[in-house]
Amino acid sequence: MTAIDFLSPGILQIKHQIRGILDSYSHDWDLIAELCQNAIDAIKARNHGRGHVVISIDATNAIIKVSDNGIGIENERLPSLMGPFSTSKSNDSSLVGEKGVGITFVIFSSDDFKISSRHMNADMAYLYSVNGARTWCQSDSNDQLMLTYRGNKFCEIGTEVEVVLKKDHPIFQLSMKELEFVLRTKTAVGDTGHIWGEPLDADCRVVRLGHDGKQDDIEFECAFLLPLSHLQKQEFVELDEYKLWRSEGDRSDADKRRRLHNKIVYYAGKKYQSGRQLRFWSCFVPQRAVWERMSDNFGLPRDMSESETGIELEVGFGSGLNTSTKGMPTGITLELKPKGSAGYVPNFFMIIEDPSLSFDIGRKAIQGRQQAMLREIAHDQFKEYINHVRKYMGGGLEETPKQWERDEVFSDIDAIPELGSGSSSFLKRPNGQEATVAGMFFDAMGRGLIKDIRPLVSGYKGRYDLYAKWGRKNVVIEFKYELSGLMKDFSDERKLFDEVDCVVLWEITEADRLLAKKRGIEVANTGSYFPHATASLSIPNVSALYVIELKSILLHN
Ligand SMILES: Nc1ncnc2c1ncn2[C@@H]1O[C@H](COP(=O)(O)OP(=O)(O)OP(=O)(O)O)[C@@H](O)[C@H]1O
Ligand SMILES: [Mg+2]
Repeated sequence: MTAIDFLSPGILQIKHQIRGILDSYSHDWDLIAELCQNAIDAIKARNHGRGHVVISIDATNAIIKVSDNGIGIENERLPSLMGPFSTSKSNDSSLVGEKGVGITFVIFSSDDFKISSRHMNADMAYLYSVNGARTWCQSDSNDQLMLTYRGNKFCEIGTEVEVVLKKDHPIFQLSMKELEFVLRTKTAVGDTGHIWGEPLDADCRVVRLGHDGKQDDIEFECAFLLPLSHLQKQEFVELDEYKLWRSEGDRSDADKRRRLHNKIVYYAGKKYQSGRQLRFWSCFVPQRAVWERMSDNFGLPRDMSESETGIELEVGFGSGLNTSTKGMPTGITLELKPKGSAGYVPNFFMIIEDPSLSFDIGRKAIQGRQQAMLREIAHDQFKEYINHVRKYMGGGLEETPKQWERDEVFSDIDAIPELGSGSSSFLKRPNGQEATVAGMFFDAMGRGLIKDIRPLVSGYKGRYDLYAKWGRKNVVIEFKYELSGLMKDFSDERKLFDEVDCVVLWEITEADRLLAKKRGIEVANTGSYFPHATASLSIPNVSALYVIELKSILLHN
């Protein structure tokens, strides 16, 4: 018998694998973020005195250099660590690196790659280089790619990576302030430990040689750049302090307004969930224009469209749910869609630190279930601002905020499509609101369009929407704008089918049908049994759930 090693890959297979890694990255800041992540991991791993990261950006020659005084790389291990999926960090949960693809991404994005490193237990440094990796990876040739090396005697402990990139790489378009912003909000040198009172003892120096040949440099603590960093103390209020003040006396609305008017309210908290500690920092601004003022104060272009770069690096303070893990801002933001007050999402900023985020390769997405958990925490926090402070923050001091909001709300409502039905008192179509659906249902009842059902009570015990009589039968009715809303409420569909007799919806859309199908629910276009039902939902072995679609009743009558 002959044994063949059928798994060892050939050059073309490795190229394929590397291209997959390159494709998994999507942001303009990814390359510098990977280098910063490695530098900070190395500083943490060495755990010895103050850490220093130096980043040089040479726009004219398209060179980026990142150096650190971290643990360094053992010479014997270095070549294998440069290959895809090779990491030295699988046993250290305090470090961010895990997949061993960051350096691969850096090498194969560059035309010239050099890494010089001296491990803390070694007495000399080595310089390794790879030439033309980017073009090698793009070509379909079978040529090998080589790593060359030589000793490099008088180097300090630590690592320096130098890459030559494409001249038009967006990172070279950034001004110094923009660079600082990106580094401190989307990479590991913006360490979030500072927010929670566990600062990383490290600093970062950035030296930038612009297209104009001018050199400038800055230095900052490796600390995340919070939106309040450059504002005056009197411009913000801490949420708990406000609540305490509120509880200390009989505060009138005018008092509250005086205290919160045009202030930014912020809050830092933690939460234990799924066996780990999640920490967060959030703030809520009185007007969206405040973000611009923050960016202004920091020295960023007033408006992205005015920025000379015009590139896709969202540089500037703004709303959003940001994530970080083990001190590193991930650069990944999650979308928020709260049930109510969604119009205020652009006023809300939050960063959540989750020590066990799991990413895809390229760190551009977080695993779905973790996303849901983070969003829930953000929604709770958002609601805090909406419920306690929002209405006292904006508007004028004298006029009542209600008045101000009224006009805006009515103009929004103006844009909702007309109902145009002769058989309803309502003028507008429901626009996602369940309450409108319920109102329309009762109105239709009053107009004799819906017969045979006699309401008993609405919202009894807060469980179901309507308890009613149908002849001598007791029936339970739920109101929802759309089917998906209903299914969200019932994690256990069996319960829904067992306890509710009929759902009143605006309409069943194609999207609803698809969603229902995915969940094993069959939608039939007839509901003949229940009065006025236009459809029915069923799952195997349980009695059907009837659906009344108001749209078809009101618009086809
Ligand atoms: N600045 C550095 N200092 C010390 N070691 C480094 C440095 N940069 C890279 N390394 C070594 O090279 C290995 C590969 O780096 P790479 O960024 O590809 O992987 P990683 O950081 O372990 O994981 P990830 O893919 O999640 O970034 C690291 O595990 C580390 O051992
Ligand atoms: Mg890495």
